[in-house]
Amino acid sequence: MSVTSFTVFSIAYHHVNLNLNNVDTSKTLYIITPTHNGYGQIPHLTRLGITLRQVRNIHWLVVEDAPTTNPNIEALLRRSNVKYTYLHAETDRKSTMQGRGVEQRNCALDYISKLNPVDGLVYFADDDNTYDLELFKVLRRTKYCGVLPVGLLGQMPYESFEIMDGKVVGFYAAFGLDRKFQIDMAGFVVHVSALTKNNPPRFKRTPLMGVLETDFLEQVVTNMSQLEPIAYDFDRILVWHTKTQNIALLSLEQYKSNYGSNRDMTRFPVLIY
Ligand code: UGA
Ligand code: MN
Repeated sequence: MSVTSFTVFSIAYHHVNLNLNNVDTSKTLYIITPTHNGYGQIPHLTRLGITLRQVRNIHWLVVEDAPTTNPNIEALLRRSNVKYTYLHAETDRKSTMQGRGVEQRNCALDYISKLNPVDGLVYFADDDNTYDLELFKVLRRTKYCGVLPVGLLGQMPYESFEIMDGKVVGFYAAFGLDRKFQIDMAGFVVHVSALTKNNPPRFKRTPLMGVLETDFLEQVVTNMSQLEPIAYDFDRILVWHTKTQNIALLSLEQYKSNYGSNRDMTRFPVLIY
């Protein structure tokens, strides 16, 4: 009998002492997800649902960018086994102002305000991003406004913060360096008490792209020293701003005329995608 010898490669991981096992999960995490009937909506929400079903004490607010909700998405959310509320708010398509997910996030914020919770955290989770399960433990460290690095932003492998004596003193970003808070939507989390102020923060469309987040955060805190770096002891990224490459899809009619001439199209199964 021949013996095969293997070379075992050992990979050295840098272990950080992360005390996440006893994170208090009594605060509800309100996860706000704008979504639209665009490329990959169903796979994006399927993937996010698989992530969220593993997280304790969350309330997923999914807001459809349409004049009505979509029964196929409702069915998907029901199957996800996550506590959810499905709402709708349509984007003003006539406006030339920039900003995706604005009306939808504001609709969910209005909804949470009506619940009038005394405790809880709000996190904006776009449908196409990728989330590590430990992210949801880290979010719960927040007292008022937590911030954390986000992977794959523009040309940056990740955007992060300059921290000194436990405080945020600067940002590492590669665009919009004149923004007061250079943070992506996935990089901050806010306590619900911010929503019960007299003039609660809301998202606003602007002529410029990429300022939604700073504009919102400027309504929550006044200076960067108030931002709590909640993932400072992590040596890895917990959320990535992934994007799906949108391919022009064929309609059934286009498929028929391009490829269907010698096929029995009555046997083409019509599926929800
Ligand atoms: C970046 C930020 O990560 C977003 O949070 C921010 O809203 C956006 O820029 C912006 O400033 O407008 P990006 O990946 O380019 O994000 O945006 P998308 O992922 O395409 O859209 C953000 C969210 O809005 C998604 O959950 C998406 O489903 C939703 N959306 C997008 C709509 O509800 N309606 C739309 O027409 C487009
Ligand atoms: Mn996105």
